[in-house]
Amino acid sequence: MRLIFASLLLGGLLLPGAQADGDPDAGKYKAQTCMGCHGTPGYSNVYPTYHVPKLGGQHAEYIVAALKAYAAKQRAHKTMHANAESLSEQDMADIAAYFAGFE
Ligand code: HEC
Repeated sequence: MRLIFASLLLGGLLLPGAQADGDPDAGKYKAQTCMGCHGTPGYSNVYPTYHVPKLGGQHAEYIVAALKAYAAKQRAHKTMHANAESLSEQDMADIAAYFAGFE
């Protein structure tokens, strides 16, 4: 019985993108504004038309690192500055956990 529990726990930890501090359910709600750009078919903005990186299936750690870099203006992109600035660390973790969880 203890062995089963241990392997379940281990399996959970080994899931790609699983992060202890990110809650994908909260992230789904918080990511709604992001989906207008990052969730479109073909991953391009409708108007003006430009390419947007695909976030689904991306590693949670990568997404958090990118958001922090935009918020700190280490990455240059006006749109993403505006989006990242308003997020708390918890928001970033939740959103990252959500995007990491789907294709
Ligand atoms: C108006 C469109 C738009 C919205 C809304 C938007 N983004 Fe972005 N996002 C972009 C574009 C365009 C880029 C590419 C910027 C660049 O070249 O650095 C980008 C880049 C990113 C990246 C880096 C991806 C990579 O592969 O390096 C992340 C992470 C990201 N966005 C997360 C978010 C999150 C989270 C939200 C919601 C809080 C959001 N974005 C909202 C347009 C948008």
